[in-house]
Amino acid sequence: MPYAAQVAVLRTLHVFGAIFLLGGVSTHALLRPMAARATDAAQQALYQLAWRVELAMVYTGSALVLITGVLMWIGDIKRFPGWLVLGFLLYAAAVGLDGAFLAPNLRRARTAAGEGSQPVAAAAMTIQLVAWLLLVVVVFLMVAQPF
Ligand code: HEM
Repeated sequence: MPYAAQVAVLRTLHVFGAIFLLGGVSTHALLRPMAARATDAAQQALYQLAWRVELAMVYTGSALVLITGVLMWIGDIKRFPGWLVLGFLLYAAAVGLDGAFLAPNLRRARTAAGEGSQPVAAAAMTIQLVAWLLLVVVVFLMVAQPF
């Protein structure tokens, strides 16, 4: 396959990954406040949906974005611009928040009786919004490539 076509395929997959990842994280930001206020049965169902979104969208998207992003970078190894370094670091921060706190929190909430204490739910909401914001900044950096 010609080089330009390879880059086109990789970039398309990369943007699909970004759509899944940011779509999933946005969905979580919308679901969490609903789940926190829902009655028991509804709460269980909402957290189960959130966990499905985690597996099908957030995990898939973050893996896709990482693999295709690194491949595009290797294909053009001479460049190491600021937007790529910062974008990668912010991605790592967002995935770190997800793996260390947000995903375990959803996994527990899906089976146990709700999310646990109210302060934990409030913390999860804040951290969810921070992760979302980090990824929005990454999209800006990747698209605008300002430095
Ligand atoms: C995990 C590390 C990542 C690496 C190594 C990486 C690397 C890259 C590279 C090399 C490009 C191609 C830029 C070009 O050739 O012009 C690109 C484009 C892009 N990236 Fe990433 N990326 C990463 C994560 C992300 C994340 C987390 C998002 C969004 C949530 C994202 C969204 C985009 C978008 C939308 C483009 C298309 C920009 C355009 O063509 O206008 N990337 N990325």
